[in-house]
Amino acid sequence: MISARKVVVATRKLPDAAEQVLKSEFAARLNKSDRAYTANELIDLAAGADALLVTVTDRIDANLIEALPSSLRIIANFGVGYEHIDIDTARSRGVIVTNTPDVLTEATAEIAVLLMLGAARRAGEGHMLVMQGAWPGWSPTFMMGHGVTGKKLGILGMGRIGQAVAHRARGFDMEIHYHNRKRLPPDREQGARYHDSTDSLFAVSTFLSIHATSTPQTKAIVNARTIDLLPKGAILINTARGDLVDDAAVIAALKNGQLAAAGFDVFAGEPNPHPDYRRAPNVFLLPHLGSATIETRNNMGFLAIENLRAFFAGKEPPNRVA
Ligand code: DGY
Repeated sequence: MISARKVVVATRKLPDAAEQVLKSEFAARLNKSDRAYTANELIDLAAGADALLVTVTDRIDANLIEALPSSLRIIANFGVGYEHIDIDTARSRGVIVTNTPDVLTEATAEIAVLLMLGAARRAGEGHMLVMQGAWPGWSPTFMMGHGVTGKKLGILGMGRIGQAVAHRARGFDMEIHYHNRKRLPPDREQGARYHDSTDSLFAVSTFLSIHATSTPQTKAIVNARTIDLLPKGAILINTARGDLVDDAAVIAALKNGQLAAAGFDVFAGEPNPHPDYRRAPNVFLLPHLGSATIETRNNMGFLAIENLRAFFAGKEPPNRVA
């Protein structure tokens, strides 16, 4: 418990359990309506505050950080990805930034597997037919999709989530290939085949699942050139960030058959993905649900609070990224 209650501004409504803890330990400025704040609103709300508890829908850019009051010493992100926060500016202003790794690994891996199965087995199309009363009935050639069992799965970014996806994919006897900045030690590789370049990974990936972080280097890493490297009829899965794929190139490949299907949970320009995805039959799309389980969202809240608690107790926050 912190003696002088620190003022924490939460930019979105948090799960009730997390808000209870936040209110009990801090002077919490909560967002009851859950409407995303504009930069100016957030700057006004931060007056006299000690901390921000932000998330992926906030743009915490250099201008915003520079406009924050000098009392504000820490930005705790509710989420593992923090590309929406200008880390360099925060660092140069001596503002600590934390995130919430680990607690969302399993939930996000579940969604990647759901997308892989849903895209390959045409679950979205099938669901719509039943819901619309348009199911013509069973036939030997009706809605044939692609099997997953025994296929090659390429994992781009073999961090915690990539490894958790690999673990689940082994249950489908998939052959795991991966590219990562660093090769994993054998006990973490568990037989997965390392590729020292993305091109080499793409060339073998009948399924390609993206788990890399969003950086200037990974932006549009899936583009017209790299999609052409995939085996014809590959299936692309994205639970990382939308800006890792070039949407126009993906849509063209879905039309010409270079991609048989795509399963996406994340999009550039959320919540308004490229409109052509809505016209593509061979996609299975979710609205950024990777971490959206009750347990996980509670734990993300608790971990963001744990970082604030540690910082204000004069300790190193457990998940400091800047
Ligand atoms: C994350 O943690 O980065 C997820 O995408 C949810 O925001």
